[in-house]
Amino acid sequence: MPFTPDSINELIRQRRSVFPKQYDPAVVIDEKIIRQVLENATWAPSHGNLQPWKFVVFAGAGREKLAQFQAETYKAGAGDNFKQATYENLLANPLKASHVIALCMKRDPNQKFPEIEEISAVACAVQNMALTVAAYGLGGYWTTGGVTYKESAKEFFGLGTSDKLMGFFYIGAIAVSSGEGKRAPLEEKVEWVMG
Ligand SMILES: Cc1cc2nc3c(=O)[nH]c(=O)nc-3n(C[C@H](O)[C@H](O)[C@H](O)COP(=O)(O)O)c2cc1C
Repeated sequence: MPFTPDSINELIRQRRSVFPKQYDPAVVIDEKIIRQVLENATWAPSHGNLQPWKFVVFAGAGREKLAQFQAETYKAGAGDNFKQATYENLLANPLKASHVIALCMKRDPNQKFPEIEEISAVACAVQNMALTVAAYGLGGYWTTGGVTYKESAKEFFGLGTSDKLMGFFYIGAIAVSSGEGKRAPLEEKVEWVMG
């Protein structure tokens, strides 16, 4: 086998969220790598193997379309709470990344399983993306900012009312690394039942 438990442990524990301000915006990641990221995402488990994910990849000038859409959607809906800095971040962030992938859940028309299971399957797919990106030494992170929870945004991503936009996975070449990760001790999160 080309991998060992030690190398998998290391990959999982070394993965960090790397944010747009940490990317080198001049680097365009080879589409072959992005395709591997997407392919690995589709190897996530899903109940009944329904594969309820859909990914919309924004690359090149496509990132500008996403940037405009999320900034203008924010402006149109913010009313008195409008903040110029938020608007500008929404406009700028996609262009700092090489690729931005919209993370979508397409609900099974037969609704065979509870919705949470289809959401969970997409989350598994996103973790596969994150680990693949980390394995290539690239930066990535999942954001649920911008238009993520806006009903009116669904159409832009080809989603119907029963589907869900679950956020965006940003990918870029790392210019500034993330610091050490932090996790609570296992004892706080695990209960053992041993008879
Ligand atoms: C569903 C989900 C949504 C997230 N949304 C955001 C976000 O909107 N903004 C952000 O800065 N980080 C976001 N994150 C990244 C978390 O902040 C990050 O995973 C956490 O701080 C742990 O850091 P690590 O990923 O480096 O281990 C999100 C992560 C997940 C799983």
